[in-house]
Order: sequence, then C-alpha cells, then structure tokens
Amino acid sequence: MKPGRGPYCSPSIIAADFTRLDRAVALAARGRADLLHVDVMDGRFVPNITLGPPVVAALKRISRLPLDVHLMIVEPQRHLAAFLDAGADWLTVHVEACPHLHSTLAAIRSAGRKAGVSLNPLTPVEMLGPALPFADLVLVMGVNPGFSGQKLIPETIAKVEWLRDRREKGKFGYLIEFDGGVNPANAPAVLSAGCDVLVAGSAVYEAADPARAIRALKATR
Ligand code: DX5
Ligand code: ZN
Repeated sequence: MKPGRGPYCSPSIIAADFTRLDRAVALAARGRADLLHVDVMDGRFVPNITLGPPVVAALKRISRLPLDVHLMIVEPQRHLAAFLDAGADWLTVHVEACPHLHSTLAAIRSAGRKAGVSLNPLTPVEMLGPALPFADLVLVMGVNPGFSGQKLIPETIAKVEWLRDRREKGKFGYLIEFDGGVNPANAPAVLSAGCDVLVAGSAVYEAADPARAIRALKATR
C-alpha cells in the first residue's frame, strides 16, 4: 500500500454480525479488501465497549488480511504489548488519549508494525503536525467515535486535504485513512481530498452483497 496509489479499503467489522466473524473476514477477503478494520472501544474514551486482545488474536488466526486495529481507548500505551502480541499489524492510537505519542508510535514501530494516529472530528488537524514524521498512518474520524452507522460530518474532509498537502511538503510517507460514515455517495469527495484508505462498516456489512460493496468502493473514481 502506497500513498496516492489507492483507493484502498479497510472494512470495519464492528458493523458485521459478531456471531459470524469468520464470515465477515471471508467477505472482506472476497471483496479484495486491503486491511481489516478492528474497532477497539473501552467505554471511557468512547461511550461504547467492543472487544479486546483475545478477539484480535482470534481474528489473526483466521484472517490473511492485515489487521488495522483502531484503539479508541484511554491510556493506549498501557495496552500496546497485548495488542501487538495479539497480532495487530497496524495499530492506531488517538492523539486525544495519548500524552506520550512519540514513545507510543516508536514502540509500535520497534515491534515491526505500522504506527497510526487518529483525531476526533473537532480536534484541529494542525495538532498532528509534530507527529507526522513518526506515523505510517493518519486516521481522520468522519464521525464522533463509538458507533457505526452514523452520518459523515462534512467539515472533517478538509483535514484530509491538509494532511495530503503537508505530506507532499514534508515528503512524509504516511497513508491517510478516513473512518466513519463513508458510503458510495460521499467516497468520491473523501478520495479527491487525498484519502488513501476508506474505512467502511455499515456501507459494507449492511449491504446486500458486502464483497461487491468493497469492490465498488475500491473502484471509486
Ligand atoms: C467509529 C469507528 C468506525 C465506524 C465505521 O467509532 O471507528 O470504524 O465503526 O462504521 P461506519 O462506516 O458504519 O461509520
Ligand atoms: Zn474505526
């Protein structure tokens, strides 16, 4: 996966049938997804609670797709080892929850994985400026984190443009991922702003044909 060579797709399994995660993984593979987005929520950083390292480890056993683990938790640095041991390939922390962002991103990279940083809808994107050289992924939230099926907040798309421009100016290598409320109608605007990776939960797993929905998102021009 390379910046500017997308669109890539990372289906978010939070919107899948949790009694059939094996099927959710198979559908992602059939749709030629590039990553599998796994939303970890602790009920403190966000109002919802989802899953932890045991489920990530189970997904790792059955998924050939790299796991794109999105930590919507407080004090993520305390849980890094558990998620790295579980097999997270891409591990993203929230800037709002991570006072020691430099050492956290460095710890993920020194484990040989990809380090990501994410920001909520009203967190100024400029706040990520100093972190950009240390990130492999920047995850722009299109919704207030916690639940799938929400409406994309259009003002968040401008952050993607800022990140693309800064990447060009600074010759950084991070991918830009957009997460929350993505669907076939708004994907063109998100992509033309400079997004590389589309996260999609309900637009994929609530579609009649999830594999086809993934392929359609990847074919967006
Ligand atoms: C929201 C999560 C997103 C979301 C995606 O907190 O980070 O991954 O579940 O689901 P949709 O695409 O339905 O918004
Ligand atoms: Zn997510």
